[in-house]
Amino acid sequence: MYEETVEHFDAWELGEPLGWAPENISGFVPCTTRFMKDESTGELLGLFSFRHRLHERHERFEGHLGYSVRPSARRMGHATALLCGALDFANGLGLGQIVVTCAPTNQGSARTIENCGGVLRDQYYLEEQSTDVNRYWVPVSS
Ligand SMILES: CC(C)(COP(=O)(O)OP(=O)(O)OC[C@H]1O[C@@H](n2cnc3c(N)ncnc32)[C@H](O)[C@@H]1OP(=O)(O)O)[C@@H](O)C(=O)NCCC(=O)NCCS
Repeated sequence: MYEETVEHFDAWELGEPLGWAPENISGFVPCTTRFMKDESTGELLGLFSFRHRLHERHERFEGHLGYSVRPSARRMGHATALLCGALDFANGLGLGQIVVTCAPTNQGSARTIENCGGVLRDQYYLEEQSTDVNRYWVPVSS
C-alpha cells in the first residue's frame, strides 16, 4: 500500500497517467507533493501539492497549490513554512508568480498567503463549485 502510494506520487509528478484515474481526465497536470515532518519525532506535520502548470479549470479554482497542516500542529507557522517551500519549488520551475485560492472564510489560509507576499487579485462566486473564492497572486523571488 505504501509503495503503491509512493508510485502514484512519483507518476503524478511526472504527469504520467495514474492507475485509478480515467485516462483522459480533464485538467490532469504534473503535480509534486512534499511532506513536512517533525525532525525529532518523525511525526507528519503537513504537506503541499504543487501543480506545475495551470489547466484552465485551475485558473479560477485551486490554482497552483494546495496545502494542509494536521489539526494538532496548527498555528505554529507550519503552513507559512510550507508555502515558502512551495515558492522555492516554483522558483525551480522558473515561475515568476503563482496563483493560490482560498475561501474568503478561511482566515488561516488568507493570512498564510499574505505572510508570503500574496496579493488579493479578485473575489468571485464560482457557480460550478457553489463557493466564494479569493484569488491571490504570490510572487516568486529567485
Ligand atoms: C489553513 C491552514 C493550512 C493554516 O495552517 P497553520 O500551520 O495553522 O498556519 P500558520 O501557523 O502558518 O499561520 C499563518 C497565519 O494564519 C493565522 N491563522 C492560522 N489559523 C487561523 C485561524 N483558524 N483563524 C485565524 N487565523 C489563523 C496565524 O495566526 C498566522 O497569522 P499571523 O502570521 O498574522 O500570526 C490549516 O488551518 C489547515 O490545514 N486547514 C485545513 C486545510 C486548508 O484550509 N488548506 C488551505 C486550502 S486554501
